[in-house]
Amino acid sequence: MKVLVVGNGGREHAIVWKLLKSPKVEKVYCAPGNGGIQKDAECVDIAATDIEGLVHFAKETKVDLTVVGPEVPLLSGIVDRFEEEGLAIFGPRREAARIEGSKRFAKEFMKKYGIPTADFQSFTESSKAIEYIREKGAPIVIKADGLAAGKGVVVASTLEEAEKAVIKAMEEKVFGDAGQEIVIEEFLSGQEMSLMAFMDGKTVKPMVVAQDHKPVFDHDQGPNTGGMGAYSPVPQIPDEVVREAVETILLPVQKAFKEEGIEYKGVLYAGLMITASGPKVIEFNARFGDPETQVVLPRLKTDLVEIMEAVIDGKLSEQDIVWSDQAAVCVILASGGYPGSYQRGVPIQGLDKPAADTVIFHSGTVLSGEEWLTAGGRVLGVTAWGESIQEAQMRAYERVKQISFDNVHYRTDIAKKAL
Ligand code: AMP
Ligand code: GLY
Repeated sequence: MKVLVVGNGGREHAIVWKLLKSPKVEKVYCAPGNGGIQKDAECVDIAATDIEGLVHFAKETKVDLTVVGPEVPLLSGIVDRFEEEGLAIFGPRREAARIEGSKRFAKEFMKKYGIPTADFQSFTESSKAIEYIREKGAPIVIKADGLAAGKGVVVASTLEEAEKAVIKAMEEKVFGDAGQEIVIEEFLSGQEMSLMAFMDGKTVKPMVVAQDHKPVFDHDQGPNTGGMGAYSPVPQIPDEVVREAVETILLPVQKAFKEEGIEYKGVLYAGLMITASGPKVIEFNARFGDPETQVVLPRLKTDLVEIMEAVIDGKLSEQDIVWSDQAAVCVILASGGYPGSYQRGVPIQGLDKPAADTVIFHSGTVLSGEEWLTAGGRVLGVTAWGESIQEAQMRAYERVKQISFDNVHYRTDIAKKAL
């Protein structure tokens, strides 16, 4: 069969890589893809947001399955449009994807159905927001309501920092319309865990858990990014806690969607904080996480196409999903300056050396003739696996050290919390 993957990051590269392992797949297209994906799939020059262009391509090319990576097309209704045209597509419809698109919607949904999350209040006026912050005190968390590519959240340790974040979002509009409304949230402390699940509207099948590293510098210092690395499993979080999160969060979410008359099909991502009083939701995403997918998919033993078809057909309950016991670690190589401004078009060396049990997923590269150039904030995700986290980590960093480009930045402590 022919499969089309929509998106252009490391997550999409990992999805393409996994789909190519399926005996059912003869050809993978990626729209628009990137320099690295181009080596594995046929990249087509259609933006992930050009829904009519994608519908047209899928029909013309007789694509059998489309897989959506990023949230923006989901929230623009790509799944609804493909379904109208009778095209098979993996992902939630627009209405269901709102769980990611609006923090206020997600928070109110959780409140209504008793799903554990931080206390919160939403605001459309900065003066009221600042009043609330002064009343609650620091630490406190300020979030832009809409999509901000993972960068719309400030965990403020002082009142001053919190007030500055409100002004930046609401008055200086650094996140554009996404910050017109903000959510102010109670600060939660604990270990973070990313728990993703396949859902078909009836059944929930959790994936193996992972942990992301959001801040740009070692020891979780500096501003939040889209994610600087990930690992799976997360041994310091006991299995009972993961089971508790499934029971108190994923299953109730599935039930709540049903009660709302919304069929949620695709991947649901729960970003959780494991607090002293149990797991609580930090955010939901309506898609695979990035970079988590880069460590979770290498551990998947079952054919990803079979799982996706089962989700689309509403037959997930009949589908076995098997995971390997191996550990995987992904280290992101970013452009110096990210998540602020950075240079593009910088030549990358050392990509072509083969290494065992390692794969390099490209997040932001272009291929210019025979030369790889940087083309984004996150550039590469070096993923390695092994019998233990330690082994996978060692292997990943060994490979990282062979790659170079001007002003490269990566964290040197990915997976350290597990050791
Ligand atoms: P989000 O984009 O909502 O995932 O938030 C980005 C990061 O900010 C999370 O991964 C957490 O590290 C941190 N964060 C978000 N909400 C909270 C909270 N209520 N308490 C503590 N940290 C938080
Ligand atoms: N790694 C967090 C996300 O994908 O949103």
